Amino acid sequence: MKHTPERSVSKEIEVLLNKQIEKEFGSWAIYLAMASWADCKNFVGFPKFFYKAAQEEMAHGLKIFHYLNDQQGCAVMPALERPKAVYTSFEDLARAALDHEIMITNSLQEIYKAALVEGDFSTVELMQWFIVEQREEEDKTRRIVDMFDIINPPSETCLAMWEIDEEVGEMAE
Ligand code: FEO
Repeated sequence: MKHTPERSVSKEIEVLLNKQIEKEFGSWAIYLAMASWADCKNFVGFPKFFYKAAQEEMAHGLKIFHYLNDQQGCAVMPALERPKAVYTSFEDLARAALDHEIMITNSLQEIYKAALVEGDFSTVELMQWFIVEQREEEDKTRRIVDMFDIINPPSETCLAMWEIDEEVGEMAE
């Protein structure tokens, strides 16, 4: 994409970035719902982790929002789907969060590839920032899933579950 006085981002990248904005704000909604589900069960660590994750996702959405408008594209506030509000277990929640983060990473990589093909190095640089961020988020979420794989607590009332909760809370610090 050659920069012109009118715009510094192509229409194609603008479409992709708007879809990503929807995914980032969608992540905010999903994590807020996850935090609330865990909070209502009176756990401490899981809500802390997911409230913080929700805040970070909101910041991610805004980062792309501002970038797109600064490049003379047009960021569009998406209509968000109502997130899932009920999970069958904390393990179910953790696996859903990991699947979601992997989907986000793949989506960012597709934008990175498209920007690279166009020679849109501003968007490449933005995507690099996000991909590094994703590495950390995927790693943390995978650690939670790993804890379930290793410890395998039989119920929410067992001591191991409370220990996992404590560990997850520390990961939010
Ligand atoms: Fe901003 Fe973890 O996606």
